[in-house]
Amino acid sequence: MRVNCLRISVTDRCNLSCVYCHPARDRDFVQDDEVLTFDEIHRIVRLFADCGIENVRLTGGEPLLRRDLPLLVTRLAAIERIRELTLTTNGVRLKQMAGELKAAGLDRVNISVDSLEADNYKQITGRDVLSRVVEGIHKALEVGLQPVKINAVILRGVNHSQILAFAKISIDVPVTVRFIEYCQTSEGTPAADDYVPCREIRSVIERAYGPLSRATVRPSNGPALYLKIGGAIGAIGFIAGRSTRFCRSCNRIRISSDGKIRPCLYSDYTCDIGQVMRNGTSDGQIRNILARAIGCKHTFTRPDSLVRGFSMRKVGG
Ligand code: 5AD
Repeated sequence: MRVNCLRISVTDRCNLSCVYCHPARDRDFVQDDEVLTFDEIHRIVRLFADCGIENVRLTGGEPLLRRDLPLLVTRLAAIERIRELTLTTNGVRLKQMAGELKAAGLDRVNISVDSLEADNYKQITGRDVLSRVVEGIHKALEVGLQPVKINAVILRGVNHSQILAFAKISIDVPVTVRFIEYCQTSEGTPAADDYVPCREIRSVIERAYGPLSRATVRPSNGPALYLKIGGAIGAIGFIAGRSTRFCRSCNRIRISSDGKIRPCLYSDYTCDIGQVMRNGTSDGQIRNILARAIGCKHTFTRPDSLVRGFSMRKVGG
């Protein structure tokens, strides 16, 4: 699979502390002077575009915490050959920012929401802000940041009871609800031995709503399987990153907020492109390094778990 998707973490800070992502003890933040500047991010994306990257997704941490983010969006949207510019957010600040982001050239958003029940949401994220997030989803639809995708990670004994509530919103809201299998990403986050596989989630939904049929969701260039409930206007996606191996169809490459390229979440191979740029390296040399990082993308052998010591908050989903 051709690598054409770049995910850039623009900050490792977040305004939520979800149980599976951000262990309370983790205070190891990237220093301000290590965070890539907008000029550096723009340069990397421009040079990655020369190497075949067409889709760019901004992630975090929580990307809407990055000051002046719409200015970065404007600059990235102007790069020729970048066909799609998207963002993954927890939605807490989306209501205020959706209009400005759309005007700046953002194409669409994925919103992470792990419960539709206020107390349960607070238990998972540490904050009582579900209603704000829901307003953010509606605002994104209203300003046309579409198709809106909602990401939910289901944890047994935590939000397992929310599966049908998520499925139900796909019936009459034009969104795609995506269930992502949980993977353990650090010692401080819950073990994944008893993770909820997509096939189990699907059967819970099918028992309530009948067999799901194939759905067409654009763009669908990733590993998700898209289905829908009969008569629904939205869709349901399954991202079975743990129970299946979709390495060969993986088309993404990532950059952490401190400028480390990460071709595969399951390998600790990184390349410090931030440092390389700060050493005065030429565009041509950087292009070669980026092409090499893309080239080694499919050379890793995937172990059963993510790399220990890895931080989702730094690398972004
Ligand atoms: N396992 C699975 N998905 C995760 N995400 C974050 N951490 C994990 C994890 N440990 C998901 C979030 C977000 C997306 C970018 O990645 O739910 O929506």
